[in-house]
Amino acid sequence: MANSSPEQGERAAAIRVQDRQARAMFLDLRRPESIAELVPAVRQAFGRIDILVNSVGIIRRGPIEAVSPEDRDAMMAVNLRGAFLLCRAVGRELIARKHGKIVNVSSNISQVLQPHRGTYAVTQAGLPHLTRVLALEWAPHGINVNAIAPAPTITELNRKFFEDHPEDLKARTQSIPLGRLGAPEDYVGVAVFLASRASDFVTGQTYFVDGGSNLI
Ligand SMILES: NC(=O)c1ccc[n+]([C@@H]2O[C@H](COP(=O)([O-])OP(=O)(O)OC[C@H]3O[C@@H](n4cnc5c(N)ncnc54)[C@H](OP(=O)(O)O)[C@@H]3O)[C@@H](O)[C@H]2O)c1
Repeated sequence: MANSSPEQGERAAAIRVQDRQARAMFLDLRRPESIAELVPAVRQAFGRIDILVNSVGIIRRGPIEAVSPEDRDAMMAVNLRGAFLLCRAVGRELIARKHGKIVNVSSNISQVLQPHRGTYAVTQAGLPHLTRVLALEWAPHGINVNAIAPAPTITELNRKFFEDHPEDLKARTQSIPLGRLGAPEDYVGVAVFLASRASDFVTGQTYFVDGGSNLI
């Protein structure tokens, strides 16, 4: 578990309460030197790395013609360049062990377009392709690389935006055939599958867990 917020520290504590080991660490995906500290720190704390779940992302909304180069660069730096750097750092460790699972979190917006999120969509569309590329290159090393594409789900990423734009929230909900937004719990099953031996013969895939939004 690695990122910058105190909330992650609380989540790690909640895991430890259940008699499991967990540790929160600061990580800035924009900085390769920050990522470089992660692998040795995890190795020291837990002995090895088996699984990477990359669920990091930021969003800046607005019509394409109004998006600033700075906002575009910020999304690319975290969502796509950061994903590449993180997968590369952990992948080197998994290659050495000849075993491992990587799960990238992309978005249904990689296929299902939504207004005023175009630049974010481009970063998310890069993740399934990065996942396929890594899956092919690292298959000989016994590493499975897959992705999950969630539907809109109320989290810190969009809570305030949806509060301020109820019409957008309504449109997003109506765009999902199963009739509701996603909930964090909706992604647990596929994440556990992709992190477990049950998916040993699956690689390079992106699972749309999106209430059917990609059907229309
Ligand atoms: N929520 C949705 O509707 C939705 C839909 C489809 C896909 N997704 C994707 O799901 C993933 C998780 O998002 P979420 O909805 O759970 O949003 P979230 O609660 O905002 O989580 C995003 C995480 O990314 C971390 N982060 C941001 N910048 C970082 C950086 N430079 N270095 C390291 N960590 C950084 C954040 O840490 P801090 O809290 O410390 O900033 C936070 O833990 C993202 O990839 C997102 O694109 C979300």
